[in-house]
Amino acid sequence: MTIVLGLQWGDEGKGKILDVMAAEADWVLRAQGGNNAGHTVEIGTEKYVLHLVPSGILRSKVSCLIAGGAVVDPAGLVKEIEGLTLRKIRTRGRLHLAAQAHLVLPHHRAVDQGSEKKRGHGKIGTTGRGIGPAYSDKATRVGLRAGELALPSAELAKRLRERVGAHNRVAKSQGWEKISATQTVREMEKAARFLRPYLADGVTLAHRAVAAGKRILIEGAQGTFLDVDHGTYPFVTSSHCTAGGACTGTGVPPTAIQRVVGVLKAYTTRVGGGPFVTEDGSLGHLLHGMGREFGSTTGRARRCGWFDAVLVRRAVQLNGVTEMAITNLDGLDGLEKIPVCVGYRLKGKILHEPPVDASDWARCRPVYRVFEGWCEPTTEARHWKDLPRKARIYLSAISELVGAPLGIISVGAGREQTFRHG
Ligand code: IMP
Repeated sequence: MTIVLGLQWGDEGKGKILDVMAAEADWVLRAQGGNNAGHTVEIGTEKYVLHLVPSGILRSKVSCLIAGGAVVDPAGLVKEIEGLTLRKIRTRGRLHLAAQAHLVLPHHRAVDQGSEKKRGHGKIGTTGRGIGPAYSDKATRVGLRAGELALPSAELAKRLRERVGAHNRVAKSQGWEKISATQTVREMEKAARFLRPYLADGVTLAHRAVAAGKRILIEGAQGTFLDVDHGTYPFVTSSHCTAGGACTGTGVPPTAIQRVVGVLKAYTTRVGGGPFVTEDGSLGHLLHGMGREFGSTTGRARRCGWFDAVLVRRAVQLNGVTEMAITNLDGLDGLEKIPVCVGYRLKGKILHEPPVDASDWARCRPVYRVFEGWCEPTTEARHWKDLPRKARIYLSAISELVGAPLGIISVGAGREQTFRHG
């Protein structure tokens, strides 16, 4: 069993790598997160952006599970499934929704958006999809789970009205928008009718697949430094995006994992607030000018910076990465010099590990080692040996700096622009 997860701040290209790897998989399990994620897959001239449905759905023989560690906006999921159906992608019998997954309800979005407004300068820059408040209800044990969509409609309505009522009682004092309970009930009943056939016990399904010797990929969403425990707290999402989260989210034990593929960009990006030591406006300008690095969920321009080896080395440790999949190498094709951050300077000291505190992290300055750019397109490369020598030197140095072997290299959005190292 293989975990595929992000080693930076999300948007590393996991969707594309998963789609390629799913050619040799039977199951793809989405472990955590919600429709804050946007996994983009391009097949020929077709472009798919998936938010909740695992990328494996684009391979007709693969079964998919949205596992219990995820949070699911029912109306959002219905829309996504309908979009796939319109494009002739079959989901019935192939896509399963774990009854254990918590629901993201309209009042969660109201809390997310209202709280962000109030934060002013300290904004996290959330996607506004209600993810944090849904996980927060899960942790305080008042959340509703997907399995409850199968309840008789009077009981489901009662539970929804209770939750919306509790929200509305404090909404005004908290600066949150009030939510209509009647509209919520109507919306959820409609979604429930649609989603019931997809419901399953996620843990039993996953374990049946393991017992049957199926080839399983666990898909992580977001990235290591958005992990609520290991990220740049509080500028993080509210789930566990690391390898541990892949296990708790799916109910698959750590002993069943043979391989951890860490996906990373050949440079760094992040969306939203928080520390970013190697951020560089001129690189951002260049990449945005190429039409790259706009968020697939919110359309926001991503913040861009140089490769940060301090960050990725920690991600390799946290996740037990057995191989890396480096994407977007072609984003660096035109550059004469390419800096890589090999240490942080903080209060006169050089750090080789990221600091614990986000404000210290924000004060760190990068120590760069500068590599020669290759100044030629890599997009036509189909084998490691096709890459310019300087690009191979760059990638090999990254591998050495972060302490993980190169596995997959990606030089464009297409399936064919992907090859193995060596
Ligand atoms: P939330 O997950 O919507 O609560 O947002 C919290 C932080 O995680 C914000 O900085 C978001 O921009 C970031 N974030 C959430 N999901 C993704 C993702 O899929 N890719 C990149 N950043 C994300």
